[in-house]
Amino acid sequence: MKRLGILLSGRGSNFLAIAESIRLGRLKAEIAIVISNRADAAGIASADALGLKTLILPSKGRPREEHDQQVVTALREAGAELIILAGYLRLLSPWFVQQFPAAILNIHPSLLPAFPGLEAQRQALDYGVQVSGCTVHFVDEHLDHGAIILQKQVPVLPTDDEHTLAERILEQEHIAYSQAIALIASGDYRIEGRRVLPGRTKK
Ligand code: GRF
Repeated sequence: MKRLGILLSGRGSNFLAIAESIRLGRLKAEIAIVISNRADAAGIASADALGLKTLILPSKGRPREEHDQQVVTALREAGAELIILAGYLRLLSPWFVQQFPAAILNIHPSLLPAFPGLEAQRQALDYGVQVSGCTVHFVDEHLDHGAIILQKQVPVLPTDDEHTLAERILEQEHIAYSQAIALIASGDYRIEGRRVLPGRTKK
């Protein structure tokens, strides 16, 4: 069973959806540790309430490499194998990414490569797209850029504002993240270029 290391900075609804999938037996994994870079993250209070191992490592004003080293040390001590970014509002250093090759996942609220970065739902509305969604992808050293594991789409309705669109996307995020983690944890996939395909590499 894969041990997950969850990194978050805020609300933590994706983390809670993952914890619930595990509880229901839909996702065969265990949460080794939940780390927040912000002391006031609601997600860390939720993790405490669930009795999970938690850690707050404040990042404000600290050099990226130094903070990343602390986080990686804590993840290793907890025996985390798969790192799950769940609303972690901090770019990982290339060094961090190299510590867990093809084992760091992120979720983003748009159909990448459209609308990377902050306020993806606002960007989608401003651009006028009629379909948006969410993307679970591997993390590489570039923002919202690594190979795509799974995407889910939602319609953008004429009545939408950024809140209603974000809510519709979030519902799909909560389904998508556990599905993507299950696939990667199973090992039953292969990466060809930027494509993540079902089935292992044949030896
Ligand atoms: C989600 O929209 C996710 O796609 C983005 O940050 C938000 C985190 O929400 N990366 P939550 O903290 O999981 O509720």
